[in-house]
Amino acid sequence: MIRLGIFLLLFVPPVCAELSFRRQILPLLGKACADCHKAPTKGTDGKVQNPKGGFRMDAPSHMLKGGSDGSGVEPGDPDKSGIYQRIMLPTGHEDFMPPKGKGTPLSFPQTELIKQWILEGANFGDWIGSDIAVAVVPKPGAAGLRKVDPLAAGLTEPAPDAMKKLGSLGAVVYRAGKDSKLIIVAFVQSTSLIGDKEMEHLRPLAANITELDLSDTKITDVGMSVVGTMPRLTKLNISGTAVTDAGVAGLKGLVNLDCLAAHSTGVSDAAVETLKSMKKLRSVFLWKTRVTSSSAAELQKALPGSSVSIE
Ligand code: HEC
Repeated sequence: MIRLGIFLLLFVPPVCAELSFRRQILPLLGKACADCHKAPTKGTDGKVQNPKGGFRMDAPSHMLKGGSDGSGVEPGDPDKSGIYQRIMLPTGHEDFMPPKGKGTPLSFPQTELIKQWILEGANFGDWIGSDIAVAVVPKPGAAGLRKVDPLAAGLTEPAPDAMKKLGSLGAVVYRAGKDSKLIIVAFVQSTSLIGDKEMEHLRPLAANITELDLSDTKITDVGMSVVGTMPRLTKLNISGTAVTDAGVAGLKGLVNLDCLAAHSTGVSDAAVETLKSMKKLRSVFLWKTRVTSSSAAELQKALPGSSVSIE
């Protein structure tokens, strides 16, 4: 079934902090769900084991189709998505997944990630699925998983208290890969309550943060000074904030930044001058700003191989 929602989503350009299905969602579902929701398999006793509830999770098409009650994944609508509904039930509920005693319930940050992924349109990326259900769990080091990351060299464990604090502020905080010391922080809830003051809570984790989503928060150039202290930052989303050229100027030392989403902000051509010197930048999103097309073209030239979008 082709739904208009999916069709429209194809035209929304991806921005930096978009969730990766293969890297962030698949491992969760693979571990907690795949055993019971895979293609029919023949057991050692010769009996065929069918997917429970008629629901298969081993390919995007099956997940979109759902099981016998027809609800699997509904792009854009977590509340109509069976996979989200069932992991959010009280753990004692008979419909709760994974069923009681048959696996570890997903944690709140994990259910939030799944919700966010559905809200963003349930993009499966390059995952086309597999008929062999065990393959749902990517092996460490398989494509899409970061193994030994040179970026993490010399890094210490992220402070658990600081991560918890961010969680209490409505941020989703998780590791960039299994056992990675690098973390990803995305403010996805109550963004209107997050301002410059709250940025101080990012400081204890500044060395560990590799992706940061501050979009639609109330931060200004003042709070951006904290972002300037994150040497391992690779992806930053400040879209829909009051940040201006002065805030972007503070990013100059972030030599690892490869993606910057700063659309719907107060930035102008002066910010482009800063960005020209950031040689790792590959994707820059600047629509709904005062950046001129000639300036955007210059930026693209200064950063060979990059994509600079202003509309
Ligand atoms: C130990 C086996 C087992 C595991 C693990 C498991 N499920 Fe299920 N699931 C079932 C059974 C049995 C049913 C059918 C009974 C029911 O509808 O409650 C079912 C039904 C469902 C349905 C309803 C499909 C439909 O259209 O009727 C969804 C959605 C679902 N599971 C999602 C999940 C998710 C998400 C996970 C992982 C977090 C998961 N399941 C893990 C056994 C399992």
